[in-house]
Amino acid sequence: MNVLGIETSCDETAAAVVVDGRDVRASCIFSQVALHGPYGGVVPEIASRSHVTTLPRMIEQAVAESGVGWGGIDAVAATFGPGLASSLLVGVSGARGIAQRLNKPLIAINHIEAHIYSVFLDGDAPQAVDMMPFLALVVSGGHTMIVRVTGLGQYEVLGRTVDDAAGEAFDKGANMMNLGYPGGPIIDKLARDGDAQAIHFPRGGRLKPSPMLGGMDPALCFSFSGLKTALLYHLRDTPLSGDAQALATLAASYQEAIVEALAGRCRTALAGYDVKALAVVGGVSMNGRLRERLADVAREAGVTLLLSKPRYCADNAAMIAGLAGAGEGIRGGADLAMDINPNMRL
Ligand code: KG4
Ligand code: ZN
Repeated sequence: MNVLGIETSCDETAAAVVVDGRDVRASCIFSQVALHGPYGGVVPEIASRSHVTTLPRMIEQAVAESGVGWGGIDAVAATFGPGLASSLLVGVSGARGIAQRLNKPLIAINHIEAHIYSVFLDGDAPQAVDMMPFLALVVSGGHTMIVRVTGLGQYEVLGRTVDDAAGEAFDKGANMMNLGYPGGPIIDKLARDGDAQAIHFPRGGRLKPSPMLGGMDPALCFSFSGLKTALLYHLRDTPLSGDAQALATLAASYQEAIVEALAGRCRTALAGYDVKALAVVGGVSMNGRLRERLADVAREAGVTLLLSKPRYCADNAAMIAGLAGAGEGIRGGADLAMDINPNMRL
């Protein structure tokens, strides 16, 4: 099954062709980062306009590179949610038009589910069936959650953030340190030369049971707002001096707090559930220190650590087409009438 996948949920415009759910024949991504950089975050209006002008080119390129050709496309898959409404609409409208023109099914994909599936892309990746059940840490600019996966399409959200996502914590912290956008990769790089233990920042909050958690275990939930406030106070008391070593130490200490919050929750989750693997997905899973710490956590728990290849960590369409090719997603008669869902749940 040759699936054309389309992803426009946030600020990446992506198209890909994947054969039988794993064989990525083409994966084209246009990152809008330079357009949003001056604003310090994604501007929805700019994002959707850029999707409109860039998506046709990404699709043409993916189909041409794949060697499959328009005649070989068996289905079209697109992200229907969660994400920015005006951005999702562009990808779904494009996918709907192509599906109609080719007279092939349109498959609606959940973006978070696709991120989790990204660890199974490419022929050399493990097979999904061999890894069940596993825990997935989803860490991106918009999401932070721990999910128990018992099969494709079978998910239980064990914990999530009650405020900022881990990627947001990186981006907002970097903004306060005047480092630029997106902050995650910048902090990651700077932190390599700094002392991560020098300054103590709060590690993801200590949550109490509350209706807001909807029955989730507080020990597996996150709060990053206190960390941001702690950085604000730190910068008030110790303003940036222009000293490169001091900045590296601040970045390393701040990063350590986020990484320890994530690693600590994963350790707790692994102690409570009998699973084969820990998967880490989303843009923040590129973080070097996080990968290092989670390798320790997985080793201690005796489970396999599943990481996506760097090209599948951030938003991409290979994970969309791959998941659809693996038999997941919503398909069927009502496909052409289905609307986007910006708040789609896993
Ligand atoms: O998955 P993604 O591309 O988009 C969303 O779906 O949100 O994730 C983007 C996030 C940004 O917040 C960015 O700062 C973060 O991933 N990020 C990183 C690193 N690379 C990207 N965070 C920490 N360390 C990195 N190396
Ligand atoms: Zn994403």
